Amino acid sequence: MPEGLTPEPTHRRYLMCRPTYFAVDYAINPWMDPSAPVDTALAVRQWEVLRATYVELGHEVAEIAPVPGLPDMVFAANGATVIDGIALGVQFRDAERADEAPAYAAWFERAGFEVHRPKQVNEGEGDLLLAGDLLLGGTGFRTSPAAHAEAQEIFGRPVITLQLVDPRYYHLDTALCVLGDTVAYLPEAFSRGSRAVLRRLFPDAILARAADAEVLGLNAVCDGAHVVLPAQATRMAAQLRERGYATIGVDLSELRKAGGGPKCCTLEVRS
Ligand code: ARG
Repeated sequence: MPEGLTPEPTHRRYLMCRPTYFAVDYAINPWMDPSAPVDTALAVRQWEVLRATYVELGHEVAEIAPVPGLPDMVFAANGATVIDGIALGVQFRDAERADEAPAYAAWFERAGFEVHRPKQVNEGEGDLLLAGDLLLGGTGFRTSPAAHAEAQEIFGRPVITLQLVDPRYYHLDTALCVLGDTVAYLPEAFSRGSRAVLRRLFPDAILARAADAEVLGLNAVCDGAHVVLPAQATRMAAQLRERGYATIGVDLSELRKAGGGPKCCTLEVRS
């Protein structure tokens, strides 16, 4: 990498939810098999490593109290989209997750944020990712295109709608990761037109391999210089290091049984 282009980290604030009540009791994506055993204690230990990783990187981590009966609440990325001190709340597609929405909205209200309640299906940062001045909006499985329009109106930032086509990559953050000025993504997870849009916007993007996406390797968190990603995504990590990023692999194998990885567990709070 040429000198002067070394990625620089910036301080981040994250919101996380301890997986105290984590389970796979229902199936709302192809990763979830309610008949397979889940080790909740192991999920908590793996989550604690993720949390400690952020703290060691110098970031601030706030915690929202987990609610019994909401096993997917650990996936804080789905709790809101927060930019410029404005929190756009969420509305889940599935009834099983509906009660998470008011819990997260209440947290942001207590923390003094301006909170907007969405009218359309909107699964927060699972499908709305800030990339520079643009919001990338995933749709096809969860968040509706009408929610992209709502987000554009509330944040005053252009939303680029991207069509997801593979049910395994049901949220944008399972198929694409923002890396400061560019992104990494799995081309096959997007429609033809959306692939063309991504090529136009990010000609220097990292194109991920299927094997890395299959271990949720794109469900990663970047602070500008470090990328926290699933330990199993080894090719992805090598591709990132070639571009000058420092990679930190974390094992979230238990949470992956619900279809979630590091990014799903992490909501960025931009005040
Ligand atoms: N079981 C959860 C669901 O299907 C997983 C959510 C993962 N979160 C994410 N940001 N991709 O809704």
